[in-house]
Amino acid sequence: MSVESTVRAVTTYRLTEMKQRGEKIAMLTSYDYSMAKIVDAAGVDVILVGDSAANVMAGYETTVPITLDMMIYHARSVVRAVNRALVVVDLPFGTYQGNSKVALDSAVRIMKETEADAVKMEGGEEILESVQRILSAGIPVMGHLGLTPQSIHKFGTYAVRAKEEAEAEKLVRDAHLLSEAGCFAIVLEKIPAALATRVTSEIPTPTIGIGAGPGCDGQVLVIHDMLGINKGFSPRFLRRYADLHTVMTEAVGQYVQDVKACDFPNEKEQY
Ligand code: KIV
Repeated sequence: MSVESTVRAVTTYRLTEMKQRGEKIAMLTSYDYSMAKIVDAAGVDVILVGDSAANVMAGYETTVPITLDMMIYHARSVVRAVNRALVVVDLPFGTYQGNSKVALDSAVRIMKETEADAVKMEGGEEILESVQRILSAGIPVMGHLGLTPQSIHKFGTYAVRAKEEAEAEKLVRDAHLLSEAGCFAIVLEKIPAALATRVTSEIPTPTIGIGAGPGCDGQVLVIHDMLGINKGFSPRFLRRYADLHTVMTEAVGQYVQDVKACDFPNEKEQY
């Protein structure tokens, strides 16, 4: 029996219930129809159409260049594939910072044009007005604290965040602000495990960690990284569940050999 037929669809409310029950939340990214279909059927609770699409789909070095139109294209493809998981879409850089009306317009476009369930936004106090305005329109928001890749040009590095006390205290304050504002979950990226555990125990909102240790309410990885499609990225937090780079390279190499050797197509592979 498939996962879809045995479990009800995941809602934001369900994630809160999972935190209360101590049931961990499994989240992965997807950016296209075929991958999202596999990820959803395998039982992932939340699918993130991450702006990491800028890196793994479009080949940009940072997530800064991806546009709202590009995110909408990816999100539409994912939503068409999903039956069970909650689909969350990243608001890309430049579509919500500094102007809450622009932020609301961006979130409304995502919701109307993709039929996804929620948006995700990077930052704490600095973007609170935008978060509140989007929430007031009835659009669920997932927060994102710690390493916030859209601010790479401000920080200049993808190193672990909030190791110093002042930054750690700001992160805790920001987590409380986002939780009190009504965010339904908060991603904690690349921060010390003890800090993530503290935040998780202090707020009722589910936390989803990436490089933030086991104390979070759930975990998220970029699908291309965990499937080993992307060989060049090996941070300590990444567990590779497959080596698809090797599998795919060997398969394509074999196809090339077969075509060149006139071994494909054979008698059974023609009309
Ligand atoms: O864009 C993304 O994939 C993300 C995850 C790393 C959390 O924001």
